[in-house]
Amino acid sequence: MTQPASDAAARYTASLRLSVAPMMDWTDRHCRYFHRLLAPGARLYTEMVHANAVIQGDRERLLGFDRSEQPLALQLGGSDPALLAQAARIAQDWGYDEVNLNCGCPSDRVQAGRFGACLMREPALVAECVAAMAGAVEIPITVKCRLGVDEDNSYENFLNFVDQSANAGSAMFIVHARNAWLKGLSPKENREVPPLRYEWAHQLKADRPQLQVVLNGGLATVEAAQAQLPALDGVMLGRAAYHDPYLLHRLEAAQTGAPLLPREALLRAMRPYIDEQLGRGLALKHITRHLLGLYHGQPGGRAFRQVLSEGAHRAGADWTLIEQALAVTRAQAERVAA
Ligand SMILES: Cc1cc2nc3c(=O)[nH]c(=O)nc-3n(C[C@H](O)[C@H](O)[C@H](O)COP(=O)(O)O)c2cc1C
Repeated sequence: MTQPASDAAARYTASLRLSVAPMMDWTDRHCRYFHRLLAPGARLYTEMVHANAVIQGDRERLLGFDRSEQPLALQLGGSDPALLAQAARIAQDWGYDEVNLNCGCPSDRVQAGRFGACLMREPALVAECVAAMAGAVEIPITVKCRLGVDEDNSYENFLNFVDQSANAGSAMFIVHARNAWLKGLSPKENREVPPLRYEWAHQLKADRPQLQVVLNGGLATVEAAQAQLPALDGVMLGRAAYHDPYLLHRLEAAQTGAPLLPREALLRAMRPYIDEQLGRGLALKHITRHLLGLYHGQPGGRAFRQVLSEGAHRAGADWTLIEQALAVTRAQAERVAA
């Protein structure tokens, strides 16, 4: 049954407080399905998809999702206003709740294509892109950005970037609160080396209270994430959510008061989805790779990871492998407790 529009709108609005970051190769639809079970109220983001791919590519593969993943945003890469507008329209037609423009990715390939983080140097062009998308669709257009690029340490420049996009129609900014260094650092180093400066996100919210500001970068515990609220509108977690997905469940519980479910119950809730996907010919490894961190830091957690990662590559692997992983994990945990 489809939800009434007002329920969907309320869920979308409430989901601002907690989101899972767009992560290329990681937050595919199987990962998002799992994250949704862990955090029923969170906002989820796709991997970045270039506007051209949305327009010309295999849409079912690039855009397909399960309705349970909603509230769900499509993250677009690109810097051509007309193409982005066309891609945003396609996203809206597919049922996405939001379109987010990537202004934070520092990779060489992205720089060569003149999108991602290097767009922070082109606030007028970003504003044009936002205006074109906002004019083309009714769903919200949002921006994910850094604080600046390279040696740019001017808060005024950052504020100017935000102001121009806000005036063009972006009501929400996800701030990965560090600079991107476009020369000399790999994308991975660019998520670790430039120092975090959360205070700029706080200053932005203080200066522009009418804008929604979501903080991203380095949040790895319930306490650290919760400490950012209510001064900001929300928190976005990336790597910590992926490597320790139960953190998402604990964070959601801390925010909503919902009871914590055991890891095993959450995993078992994946079974109908897994059986259905295997029935369509998907190999189990494409799903289990996102589950490996479920017992992160727990007794038996290594065994769980090992059984799944070794077994899921075998032809015909199915739910029985997950039962084996659970049994080994339980046995290890009992041994530790004894
Ligand atoms: C494997 C990986 C892929 C990523 N891909 C994207 C992407 O497609 N779009 C994007 O805006 N950010 C991407 N990021 C950056 C994250 O969205 C996030 O901004 C960053 O990891 C900082 O948050 P964290 O410290 O909570 O991980 C990626 C990060 C990782 C680890």
